[in-house]
Amino acid sequence: MTDVFTGVRLLGPPETDGEYIALSEHETVHLHEYTRIYAVPGLYEHVVQDRLRCRSPQVAAAGFLRAASLLGLEPGSLTVLDVGAGTGLVGELVRDGGVGQVVGVDALSAAREASLRDRPGVYADYVVGDFLRPDTLREALHPYSPGGLVSAGAFGGTHATPPALENALALLPPDAPVAFTIDERWMDESDPDGFGAAVERLVAAGRLAVLERTRFQHRVTTTGEPIFYQLVVGRTE
Ligand SMILES: C[S@@+](CC[C@H](N)C(=O)[O-])C[C@H]1O[C@@H](n2cnc3c(N)ncnc32)[C@H](O)[C@@H]1O
Repeated sequence: MTDVFTGVRLLGPPETDGEYIALSEHETVHLHEYTRIYAVPGLYEHVVQDRLRCRSPQVAAAGFLRAASLLGLEPGSLTVLDVGAGTGLVGELVRDGGVGQVVGVDALSAAREASLRDRPGVYADYVVGDFLRPDTLREALHPYSPGGLVSAGAFGGTHATPPALENALALLPPDAPVAFTIDERWMDESDPDGFGAAVERLVAAGRLAVLERTRFQHRVTTTGEPIFYQLVVGRTE
């Protein structure tokens, strides 16, 4: 698969005004143009996992399994929500770790199509929906009664906002294991609109207990600078 992508080039400042992927001399796509990237089998994994060395899926999946173990839960008994599931990397990792059932949710139908195409059988179901509009999602997820949540790289920036995190956690019962990764820039508690403040609010409201908060290198940029994220591992209350 990798040979197919030998011509792919990564572009970044000052050459371009953001992070781009040159697929050929004539076709350039922004790193966050997921609909176009997911349409090409293996392209997301080649660029984000292999070239940009993204480790959020592995870190989030391992964090989730640790949370389940700390809470004395048997992973095989759990149905877990994968928030912003993309092509299914996280779902595959937690299934490999013994989780019984995973339900993927992503705002893009291209993500669902890519996951069913490239990782068939990983998800019990894959729902296209936005956590900013939880009513439709609540209905679609009701038959699965999710008892845990895992999410890698789906919160912050151009992705899901703090209210989406709060809505996602509200779909879980108390004592459910959770693990999610967020860019450390958005974890600054002094920003009232950031994730740091949202996590503090959830803790103060007795909705979340934080078991672990760890800094790790999420990936490098297209020009090679490290990007650091935090892993938050916890339990709903
Ligand atoms: C960087 S990708 C990560 C995909 C996957 N978790 C992984 O680690 O490979 C972020 C994904 O989150 C999805 N997303 C962003 N905002 C969302 C929202 N409000 N609700 C559901 N999905 C969302 C995007 O469509 C995208 O597929």
